Amino acid sequence: MSVLIAPSILSADFAALGAAIAAAERGGADLIHVDVMDGHFVPNITIGPPVVESIRKVARVPLDVHLMIEEPDRYIDAFAKAGASMISVHVEVLPHLHRTVHAIKALGCKAGVVLNPSTPVAALSEMAGDVDYVLVMSVNPGFGGQTFIPRSASKVAEVRALLDRAGNAAPVEIDGGIDIQNVGRVVAAGARMIVAGSAVFHTPDPERAVRELKAAAAAGLPTVTSATR
Ligand code: DX5
Ligand code: ZN
Repeated sequence: MSVLIAPSILSADFAALGAAIAAAERGGADLIHVDVMDGHFVPNITIGPPVVESIRKVARVPLDVHLMIEEPDRYIDAFAKAGASMISVHVEVLPHLHRTVHAIKALGCKAGVVLNPSTPVAALSEMAGDVDYVLVMSVNPGFGGQTFIPRSASKVAEVRALLDRAGNAAPVEIDGGIDIQNVGRVVAAGARMIVAGSAVFHTPDPERAVRELKAAAAAGLPTVTSATR
């Protein structure tokens, strides 16, 4: 599998989301990452289903909706109806994670589970066969523009190993503080979906930033040699 780039619109100009998404897509964005925050699970408040519905009308690639909210079960239906293709939920807020993951799938969306930096990989062990993707947070969720937590690269490798043991080829996504300097390292550790907010939208040319991030990510993929071919 190649590496998918998911620019996070959290760092874009909210008054010009259509233009920001179009620029990211011209640069080769594979997904658009949408950060939903409720002011409870995380300190920040962002957007809800109506904005997702509007974005869906202009985006050409699937919407990857990351729910940083306390009661995701109350809202997954609304986000699915608004046009999310992928919905991820945090294990930290879900005592009935199995039920939630299958509810997301029943709505026709890919179901992802998210681990905060302080949450052990083992929190997923009973769900490794059920998930469509796993999102490893490489910052504490709530804000764009934070610094990548170095331990996250080995955590990606641990999640990859857990999924492999369960016979699940579901990709690992990483989110927080990713830029062209560190993306190769997380791809080498096993990440195949890359979220980037400020590294894309806090640059003068988001289209070019996506293109450069994609190239730097591909450089982290294992080299195919005659021995491994
Ligand atoms: C953080 C969000 C991220 C954020 C990433 O809580 O989940 O998706 O937008 O932004 P950067 O890439 O700037 O860390
Ligand atoms: Zn996110």
